[in-house]
Amino acid sequence: MLIWKELYNECSNCHKCKLADNRINMVFGEGNVSAKLMFVGEAPGADEDRLGRPFVGRAGQLLTKGLEALGLTRDRDYYIANVCKCRPEKNRTPYEDEARACIGYLRNQFALVKPKIVVCLGATAMKFIMEPAISKLSPNLLENKYEGAAIEDEWKSAVQSGEMRITRDRGKWIKINNLYMMSTFHPAALFRDESKKKLFWEDLKKIKIKYDEV
Ligand code: URA
Repeated sequence: MLIWKELYNECSNCHKCKLADNRINMVFGEGNVSAKLMFVGEAPGADEDRLGRPFVGRAGQLLTKGLEALGLTRDRDYYIANVCKCRPEKNRTPYEDEARACIGYLRNQFALVKPKIVVCLGATAMKFIMEPAISKLSPNLLENKYEGAAIEDEWKSAVQSGEMRITRDRGKWIKINNLYMMSTFHPAALFRDESKKKLFWEDLKKIKIKYDEV
């Protein structure tokens, strides 16, 4: 495990995948490095690439404002980073090999921040962060790992198949090794489908409640 400065330098010099060839800036992550809450997105967009900061474009501003309305500010209350630290061209979804090349950096960030709550923003973060955790669970172990039978039922399909689906599995907490995890829509998805706004807002409120609890 690297400490912050070493990790930042390693990411800045990284050429493990082709995304490095076209980046203006590597987008490392930002926020309170000791926060109990950490958000994970997919990869930088154009604004993030230009500025070297995560979630500063239109989608990021929507998220930031929603969290601020609940009293959560980036500097003080959470850390935010992405699965991939460089922008895929035309904002396409990162390829599997790109995500796999980069994910170790995010895991290092988890190890340094030591959050109590991790929230995956969108299907990519969910797939690379939450799904591997879920797929290690056996259905028989469910009862011990979760808090209550209702939750066990909620997660049955995901645990049995080892696969999560954002529309089915968003907004639900799972607690694994003392870490609470949840996935919700990527804020960019709200611009494509207005009907997701209400669910997204409900999820943010759940996050605030958990934040106050832990
Ligand atoms: N979308 C992401 O997933 N991450 C960002 O940093 C910006 C937009």
